Amino acid sequence: MPLTFSMNENKLRDQIADIGRTLYTRGLAHGSAGNISVRLDDGFLITPTNTCMGRLAPERISKVSFDGELLSGDRPSKEAFFHLALYEERPQDRAIVHLHSTHSVAVGCLADADPHNVLPPLTAYYVMKVGKLPLVPYYRPGDRTLAAAVRAQAKEHHAMLLANHGPVVSGTSLDGATYAMEELEQTARLYLLLHDHNVRLLTHDQIAELHSAFPS
Ligand code: 13P
Repeated sequence: MPLTFSMNENKLRDQIADIGRTLYTRGLAHGSAGNISVRLDDGFLITPTNTCMGRLAPERISKVSFDGELLSGDRPSKEAFFHLALYEERPQDRAIVHLHSTHSVAVGCLADADPHNVLPPLTAYYVMKVGKLPLVPYYRPGDRTLAAAVRAQAKEHHAMLLANHGPVVSGTSLDGATYAMEELEQTARLYLLLHDHNVRLLTHDQIAELHSAFPS
């Protein structure tokens, strides 16, 4: 029997597939890497494991309860447990994007990165959309002990970088989380481009002005 979903859930399934396609088309997701989730009232939708973000079938997207149980759809992402940890720590957030986008991953492989804040304040939009970016130590994909490490950062941060793996960003909407993720990836790219240059960063006062003009 075909499953029926509420209108809202249908819309969110379509939105996940649309975002997945745009990220894939522009090279921000490749192969079967990355996952996207959206919070519902009775659980969350998450992309199935081992699927290409560019070719998601909305009706096959997994629905998982807040106990981690699969309610419908294909087998969920092996990272569903850290999405759940983020939702538990950040009740205000409704969507999460995790990518293996090249420039962010590259920065997450730098041995000398400051683990409290991996990227400097290069631009206003980075400060407005991401702010600080802590580094989460390396765990293999699907390692459930990663949940505790993600949870530890999630109280204070909606964006974090998994070492030698990729960025994770949550937001109050799927569009918001995606915009922040794209800003993070482009800033990582800028950071690598500017590697050998003497860079002028935003000052403390400029950052404070941004926070007061654009409170998150
Ligand atoms: P899944 O295919 O299980 O979602 O894993 C992809 C990924 O990005 C692992 O970090």
